Amino acid sequence: MRDVAVIGVGCTEFGEHWGISFRDLFVKAGALALDDAGVTGENIDALYVGNMSAGRFVEQEHIGALIADYAGLATNHVASTRVEAACASGGLAFRQAVIAVASGMEDIVVAAGVEKMTDVGTGASVDMLASAADREWEGFAGATFPGLYAMIATDYMHRYPLTREQLAQVAVKNHENGAKNPIAQFRNRITIDTVLNSSLVADPLRLFDCSPITDGAAAVVVVPLERAREFTDSPVRVLASAQASDTIALHDRRDISTLDASVAAGKRAFSQASLTQKDIDMLEVHDCFTIAEICAIEDLGFCKKGEAGRLTEEGATALGGEIPVNTSGGLKACGHPVGATGIKQIYEIVNQLRGEAGARQVDAEIGMAHNVGGTGATVVVHILGA
Ligand code: COA
Repeated sequence: MRDVAVIGVGCTEFGEHWGISFRDLFVKAGALALDDAGVTGENIDALYVGNMSAGRFVEQEHIGALIADYAGLATNHVASTRVEAACASGGLAFRQAVIAVASGMEDIVVAAGVEKMTDVGTGASVDMLASAADREWEGFAGATFPGLYAMIATDYMHRYPLTREQLAQVAVKNHENGAKNPIAQFRNRITIDTVLNSSLVADPLRLFDCSPITDGAAAVVVVPLERAREFTDSPVRVLASAQASDTIALHDRRDISTLDASVAAGKRAFSQASLTQKDIDMLEVHDCFTIAEICAIEDLGFCKKGEAGRLTEEGATALGGEIPVNTSGGLKACGHPVGATGIKQIYEIVNQLRGEAGARQVDAEIGMAHNVGGTGATVVVHILGA
């Protein structure tokens, strides 16, 4: 297997993009990434595009071909593949690109993610997202993602010492980071009271415990490490790429407050990279709801079960803390265009490792990305090094 490096990244602003089409969002992110990498379309061997549900959000399928066409690569007959794993589609597209380059099959590969969710109303959006849970056993019984994560939060708070205020602090911290991120959907600072006084969505989760509905796209370019310096002086190495599955329905889990697929993917990633939690300088985790960030920090082994709330309250996960978590603002404040999120996490880590994160900059040489599909039926973990 060859070592792999990221040589360029690009991302659109995340938010509500009434004036930009699904395909143009992708083209914008792709052009930014190619420009950053110093490669042109003719150099590209393959595209992997993370997308969860364009068929339902914008009534468009055959996304691999569409993207290749509108990126101007169809007449080069570039190999273009759509990758789908619900909210982990982006992370998995990145993993497919890494595998393609590591195997020696492809040299210059674009991994991208795109989703346009706001063209439909919230009800339709929530129902489409719910199709990533178990439709027969969860969806038909009325469960939505806010509902399923509310069950996780209820169980967690019953068993571990997590206060409502500590949970709110996850959102406060992520909005603080989002306020420093020019691509973030929400750049407003909030307080614990903002979260506690916001409308109830699914008890105990309130509006500000939830990631929003978002349009956006992100892209990165990967090449074999041995060729990276042809393009850039600051390649970022892929030190590990791991993936794990679990039961699709929450009620089939051994323990609903621990995402066993996060535990498994995290262990595999650490083992591949021969690193431990102490070596990681920053984390981008899948905070689709505030409780999900608490679980992720623990399931990836950064502290014991039941401790992440206290660490968050003490500031350990803030920008200046011991282990900064979601410097981008996370899904909560940066936004969550589901197919693009996993690639945006790589975009953020690459910016941090290159020292190009502006007001969000932390001191980091190694970063970890954690991207979850559903309530943890797919988890993808990557470790990147400067
Ligand atoms: N956090 C903070 N503010 C939010 C928000 C969020 N998650 N979602 C919407 N808002 C704001 C909007 O900007 C808007 O503000 P404004 O009135 O000042 O313009 C206001 O709240 C109402 O927005 P609206 O779009 O009407 O919200 P909604 O009630 O239709 O949707 C949720 C809110 C929480 C139901 C929706 O965002 C949601 O379902 N989120 C979860 C998405 C999800 O499950 N993703 C997959 C995870 S696995």
